[in-house]
Amino acid sequence: MPPKPPSVIAIYPGSFDPITNGHLDLVQRGARIFDALIVSILRNDSKLPLFSVEERMDMLREVVHPYANVEVDCFDGLLVDYAAQRSATVLLRGIRAISDYEYELQMASMNHRLRPGIETVFLMANEAYSFISSRLVKEVYGLGGNISGLVPPSVEARMHDRMQKTKQRGAE
Ligand code: PNS
Repeated sequence: MPPKPPSVIAIYPGSFDPITNGHLDLVQRGARIFDALIVSILRNDSKLPLFSVEERMDMLREVVHPYANVEVDCFDGLLVDYAAQRSATVLLRGIRAISDYEYELQMASMNHRLRPGIETVFLMANEAYSFISSRLVKEVYGLGGNISGLVPPSVEARMHDRMQKTKQRGAE
């Protein structure tokens, strides 16, 4: 019997503020390709998030639980160091449009320089989701637009709760 190939662990890093159906599509596809997929939220993000890291982790866990080989985590510091700590050899990222390419190429090249043993693998966003971003979802929802079909229903419910609380605070 030939020796069993080593299992491939991939990290899918991001802000996920909040997770969209585009992210979820990538999780589903990544879970089919890799032996294990770790969806991991950057902790020390300079962007001011709508949801705390813990809230984002809860939202992620709620939607990835059907996938037995998918885990949710968070990280600080350099992504490649975290990947090495988790024995991951692949970084998974999605590309929606040519406008994503330049930023992604820069990050992948830097990460490769820092740790050549870790490869970035890109999946093209499903065209049904290629226009969705967390930033636009928040903007549209904040202005009263309909976001159903853009984020999982559990995320939409949390966005609704967050908006109600913000309104209540404003009225106090
Ligand atoms: O969803 P995002 O915000 O586009 O994700 C960006 C992320 C988290 C992948 C990127 O900012 C990152 O990896 N940050 C960790 C710090 C790091 O390793 N920086 C050097 C990357 S070249």
